[in-house]
Formats: sequence, C-alpha cells, structure tokens
Amino acid sequence: MKLILVAGARPNFIKIAPICDELKQKKGIDYYIFHTGQHYDENMSKTFFDQLGIPEPDKNINAGSNSHAVQTAEIMIGFEKVLNDYKPDIVIVVGDVNSTLACALVAAKQNIPVAHVEAGLRSYNWRMPEEINRVLTDRLSQFLFTTCEDANENLKREGINPEKIYFVGNVMIDTLLKFKRIPMEHDILQDLNLNSKNYALLTMHRPVNVDSIDNLFDIIDALYEVQKQVKVVYPVHPRARKKIIEFGLEKKFEEMDNFTMIDPLCYLDFLHLMDNARFVLTDSGGIQEETTILGIPCITLREETERPITVTEGTNVVVGRDKNKILTEVSKILNGKGKTGRIPPKWDGMTAQRIVDILIQKQNLINKSKELMIL
Ligand code: UD1
Repeated sequence: MKLILVAGARPNFIKIAPICDELKQKKGIDYYIFHTGQHYDENMSKTFFDQLGIPEPDKNINAGSNSHAVQTAEIMIGFEKVLNDYKPDIVIVVGDVNSTLACALVAAKQNIPVAHVEAGLRSYNWRMPEEINRVLTDRLSQFLFTTCEDANENLKREGINPEKIYFVGNVMIDTLLKFKRIPMEHDILQDLNLNSKNYALLTMHRPVNVDSIDNLFDIIDALYEVQKQVKVVYPVHPRARKKIIEFGLEKKFEEMDNFTMIDPLCYLDFLHLMDNARFVLTDSGGIQEETTILGIPCITLREETERPITVTEGTNVVVGRDKNKILTEVSKILNGKGKTGRIPPKWDGMTAQRIVDILIQKQNLINKSKELMIL
C-alpha cells in the first residue's frame, strides 16, 4: 500500500508523529510525507519534526502565508503534482487547517480515498475557517477516524454512512503520553524563572480574538486583572504578534508587571510548561484536550468548543472574552476548586496503532477504490 501523509501547520506535526512511528514498523507500506509549508518558521515547523522524530518530508512546497484562497489554491496546485508523480492508494489528512481541506479536495477529485484523522468535531460556528475545513474534509473522506462518541453522532446526523466512521481515540494524546515520559534536557521553568503550579500559561491566536482590536482589548483587560493574582506566561503565535504590533498594543502588554511574553516554544518545552501550570488560558483546540489528559484546569477564551468532551469529562470551561466569567473561573482555581475531570475513552496512547491496523485490514477495499468511492 502506498500512502501520503499530509501536514502543514504546527498542530498537524504533533498528530502525524505517532502515525509515522506506526508506519515505520509495518512492512509492505510505502509512505510519503507531504509538507505544505503553511507553517514555515523554524520554531513553528522544523523543531517539531526534529523533536518528535518525524522523518524529513519527501516534499515541502513552501506554500507559506497568504489569504485563505491563495494559500489553499497554492497547496492544491502543489499537491496535484505530487499525486500525479507518486500515485498513492490513499491520502491521510489530519485536523482542520487549510492544508487539510486543500489536500483532501485534490485527492477526492482524483478518486483517491481520503482518511481524515480527527473527523466529526463541530463548533457549529460557520465563521471559523476551521469549521468549514472540518465539514468539507469529512464530506470528502472515505475513512473518518474520530476522537470521541459525540463526533460519531455529528457525522451520522450529517448523513455520513456509519460504515465509514471509526472511533479510534486521539493521536495528539499518543504524542503527549509518549513525550511526557521523556526527561527534559533543560528546565524551561528555570529558564523563565517560574515555580511549578505558581503561574498561568496563556495561548491566544484565533482570528476572532486577535484580528479584532476590540476583542483583543477585552482580553487584555481581563488579563490585566489575572496577572495581579498569578504570574502569566504567553508564548506568542506569529499571527498574534503581528496583530498586536499592527494595533499598537505592545505597550498594553508591557504595562503588566506580572506578565511575560515569549517566542513560540518547541513541543517538549511547551508540554513541560503546560504540565506545571496552575491553569491554562487558551483559544486553541488541541490544548483543551491536552490539559484534560494532564489534569490541568483549562479556561477557554472562546464562545463555543468543537471539543465538548473536554468540558463534560475533562478540565475545560468555555468562557469567551467575558472578563467577569474569566475572573470567576480564575478565582475558583486559585481557591482549589478547579475542575479535575477524567480521561475520555480511548485517549490511551494507542490511537495511531488502531488507525494503521484498520487501514491494513481494509487494504483490499482501498485497492478497489472505485467501490470505496461509492460507499
Ligand atoms: C493555522 C490554522 C489554525 C491553527 C493554527 C495553529 C487555518 C485556517 N488555521 O492558523 O486552525 O490553530 O494554524 O498554529 O489553517 N505565520 C508566521 N510564521 C509561520 C506561520 C504563520 O509568521 O510559520 C504568521 C503569518 O503572518 C501568517 C499568520 O501567521 O499570515 C497566519 O498563519 P496561517 O497559517 O494562515 O494561520 P494560523 O493563524 O497559523
């Protein structure tokens, strides 16, 4: 079986790593890693490949940043050439970024089966680019690998044939559980002068939060109060940094004495910071899941989540940008009343193995891709 594994943006690298580990061990599978180049800064891409032990991409088309249309189109053009040359039996895409949809669309048009890892998540907020990417990628896929039961239900409600849905668990958690065991070569807490459980970790990069000066201002207003109670560390995503500079808001951040902005971190340093934080404030998707596994309270700075299991089973609360709600949650946590939660089913470090086993079992069907395309 010949397969292509697609990755383009930072969270994708964390998701393909355990699938690569599994594929390396299997005989008879020839795999090709396609990097779209959606993320390209060394600390947004290369350090992840190095640290997570992902083989060098077979091809990186360096699509880079641009409007959604241009970025998606560039990736599609580049990927079509790769499909024509390599002729895979199946394409695996992960997550919900522009690279995911672009490659799924090109493969589907060539009648090549698509496997979507992390299928079925829904925020039901059609203004999020990721929601558009998720829904369309799922519609184009023949294998829908889900992280939770509610994703299965979402897909069935949309009329997806249940035979295409496989509840396998969460590949991001495979990576977390593997790397949590690896001892640190250096201590990021020491580098940043932090004490375990004595700081909050912030991540924020969603367009809804950082592309609007009013929304960003609301969050800064809340952060101003938070950092009076506990030190806050913020590894700044390049998109957010660009917007903060564009809006002239650097001063607002500098005025907060107990607030530290740093460059984006490598995987291991970030994991260590997350694991030792008193709590996490975030608008990311994956971090809501990672904090649930680590048992760290998570305050999500969004109006909704496509990962409700992190709220019903995990440590997550979704508060949006409302200062009062944010501060209420912070004070609950600081008073020892933060959520503890439990581990969702199949978030056990074995998900990539399940995915690869299913693909091998279904190899005959994949080879008869015409039948699969009708399913
Ligand atoms: C993308 C995903 C988002 C994901 C995030 C993870 C889409 C629509 N969005 O958002 O779902 O949560 O990745 O990080 O696919 N930039 C750099 N260097 C880089 C990459 C980006 O400076 O290596 C800057 C550029 O100014 C660029 C901006 O960040 O214009 C946005 O990058 P882009 O890939 O378009 O979206 P993200 O916000 O990173």
